[in-house]
Amino acid sequence: MEAEKLALWRAPLARALHLNRSLPQSRYFQLATIRQNGYPANRTVVYRGFRDQTNQIQMISDLRSEKIQQINNSPLAEICWYFSQTREQFRFTGTLTLISADSNLQSIRLQIWQQLSNAARLQFAWPEPKQPRIEAKEAFLPPTPSVNEPLPNFGLLLFDSIEVDHLELRGEPQNRSHYQLDQQHEWSVKSINP
Ligand SMILES: Cc1cc2nc3c(=O)[nH]c(=O)nc-3n(C[C@H](O)[C@H](O)[C@H](O)COP(=O)(O)O)c2cc1C
Repeated sequence: MEAEKLALWRAPLARALHLNRSLPQSRYFQLATIRQNGYPANRTVVYRGFRDQTNQIQMISDLRSEKIQQINNSPLAEICWYFSQTREQFRFTGTLTLISADSNLQSIRLQIWQQLSNAARLQFAWPEPKQPRIEAKEAFLPPTPSVNEPLPNFGLLLFDSIEVDHLELRGEPQNRSHYQLDQQHEWSVKSINP
């Protein structure tokens, strides 16, 4: 695979991740997708780093969750990420690609699975999400899944950005930058009014 050039917004994002590293919530962001009825669906997910040599943001999800049907219906999505220490927000507009058991890129899917804690892997063996609550405690104590074989409902999500809006509240007045990907796959940046 040809290495993707580091997008212009990677440096300010890396800086934010570094300066906010003492706050665990800096590694969570909100991911919005589109429901079949047109309404937005928004939820918090964990940032799982960038796919090597690309600008794709990685996340994981249970394939049984509703976001997966939404993504299959429309890959359009937005990420909203607030860093409270440095008081800055990044909004990424783009598309999601789902990597499931029958997709290419199994090596990354496996790698991310292996990097998870046992507790995180176990959640993929829990009963069906959003179904009526199962009260029997044993249902949530399944056998420990194998480290070397992701459960079939383990999904990796890759987010490709086309626009990034970076707002920094610090500063008098505030700073806001707009990054855009052009037809030639080159990023440009413009300073805009907050
Ligand atoms: C702090 C936090 C982190 C979360 N991380 C993830 C995650 O990485 N992946 C995920 O699918 N859900 C994660 N969730 C749960 C989602 O917010 C959501 O409840 C779940 O994915 C079901 O959403 P859906 O029905 O829209 O698919 C997290 C929730 C919280 C509060």
